[in-house]
Amino acid sequence: MLTNMRVIAHERLGDDVNIRRLVLEGEAAAEAQPGQFLHIRAADALDPLLRRPLSIAAIDRSQRRLTVLYRIKGRGTQVLAAVPVGGMLDVLGPLGRGFQVPSTGELILAAGGIGVFPLLALAAAAAERQVKTTLFWGGEDRAFFDNAGLRLWRDLGTPLSLATMDGSLGRKGLVTELLGLWWQERTAAKEPVFMAACGPAGMLKAVSLWAQTKAVSLEVSLEERMACGLGACLGCACQGRDSEGRLKNLKVCTDGPVFKAEEVEWDAG
Ligand code: FES
Repeated sequence: MLTNMRVIAHERLGDDVNIRRLVLEGEAAAEAQPGQFLHIRAADALDPLLRRPLSIAAIDRSQRRLTVLYRIKGRGTQVLAAVPVGGMLDVLGPLGRGFQVPSTGELILAAGGIGVFPLLALAAAAAERQVKTTLFWGGEDRAFFDNAGLRLWRDLGTPLSLATMDGSLGRKGLVTELLGLWWQERTAAKEPVFMAACGPAGMLKAVSLWAQTKAVSLEVSLEERMACGLGACLGCACQGRDSEGRLKNLKVCTDGPVFKAEEVEWDAG
């Protein structure tokens, strides 16, 4: 859907000037699902030419509002960051295939860096269904978490397990190490586990291999460069596998951005 959305809030998420929270109001909120994205045109002028794909971090249907969190990186998001409250944005969306929201069992979220943003909407949807959810989140250092919305997770009441590269918050190390420890400590009464992950490709691959060895169902949200967002330009193509294990091409914008982990070919060049 091509629509106009009004900017309701547009501010820093924490102290980092480059990480922003943008709240938009409009019809797109009625249909949005966790894991989908908005393709936002940053300016009327031809520069920047392309829209920016930004994942949906919160959905408020009653107020017709969607929140996106983003890091300023490149000309498009720089121009977007200057759009004031009260302004209108030309938005395509919600687009893409989102996460399955479990209604039973336990939901485990694994995030690397700002890959945590789309998982916030999923955690909120799972909380509405009273599904127990835990977030395993890795980042650079303590300051990163404060700047990337740690308080939003605390507000939601999601149990958190954090890892930093320098040990300044949580455990020093990687998200996969947190997952390994958690798995060892699980008690005998085991509910089915559903996992969702988002972050850098290396981290997603590691989480995917881990989940495979534990026979845990995992969905991953891929972050690819996108141009059209509609399946036409092939700018977001990546390699996947069909149910028979044969290689096939996937378009992140329309086949994803959320995929079952086994659909993705992690070793494609
Ligand atoms: Fe154009 Fe996916 S962004 S096909």
